[in-house]
Amino acid sequence: MIIYSRISDTTTHIKQKRDEGSTIGFVPTMGALHEGHLELMRKAKKENDLLVVSIFVNPIQFNNQDDLKKYPRDLKKDSELLETVGCDILFAPTVDEMYPEKVTKKYDFGLLENVMEGASRPGHFNGVGVVVSKLFDICIPHKAYFGEKDYQQLAIIKKLVEIESIPVEIVPCPIVREVDGLAMSSRNERLTPNERASAPYIYEVLQDAKTTSEFLCTNRLKQYVLNQFSDRKEFEVEYFELADDKDLQPIKSHNPEKGTIGFIAVNLGKVRLIDNIRII
Ligand code: PAF
Repeated sequence: MIIYSRISDTTTHIKQKRDEGSTIGFVPTMGALHEGHLELMRKAKKENDLLVVSIFVNPIQFNNQDDLKKYPRDLKKDSELLETVGCDILFAPTVDEMYPEKVTKKYDFGLLENVMEGASRPGHFNGVGVVVSKLFDICIPHKAYFGEKDYQQLAIIKKLVEIESIPVEIVPCPIVREVDGLAMSSRNERLTPNERASAPYIYEVLQDAKTTSEFLCTNRLKQYVLNQFSDRKEFEVEYFELADDKDLQPIKSHNPEKGTIGFIAVNLGKVRLIDNIRII
């Protein structure tokens, strides 16, 4: 694996490989790699000649400075994991390399950015859009891989590719879970042992919501889910939403013709966790 921190070195190497006819599979990350990331990488490696990964904790997508400061960083451990999945190129730039000037770009992702994560974390998706567009310019992938745990981010990135006419195929990948059901996330590392023991309850409730959706209208189902947390004081639910799987707008009633996803964000101690489940 070759590690670059410079944009020009990375792009020169990848351009040369593309000119030689190699296909490039790209997995952008913020590090603190876990099995969820590694699954994306294994798929990318299988489907392409070259696996390129980026590790960059993107400051402009954090609207909480404490969250940015506490974001786990361990390049040595991450590099070892990358070797195990056959990563060919790791791009790990500094903040100055990525943003030599103040970022002023503003995207209009339309309705997609006004709900759930967009509403809870103002500016977050603009920051994601800016960095992913820049990473696509640098790493010029044929295919880029994103996990469905961040389902709304995936929708935003598909929209970004459309807005910027970027010639890349976006490959969605299923959520990877721990054996007890907790969706894998770099944030799980920050849970205390007690919080970690409680955390699988989130997915239990989502599964219950899916089963119960057959019997309850959407408003009742939302209330039902919130009630499941009322005597679990360790959780503070930020939202539970039932939304269309394409435009992510909240649905008012179940429609078997349309895909519906149940989205949840909860705070467990100081850690904010999100998860989702396909209802229809
Ligand atoms: O999902 C993430 O890890 C980040 O949002 C991404 C896509 C790497 C952009 O910083």
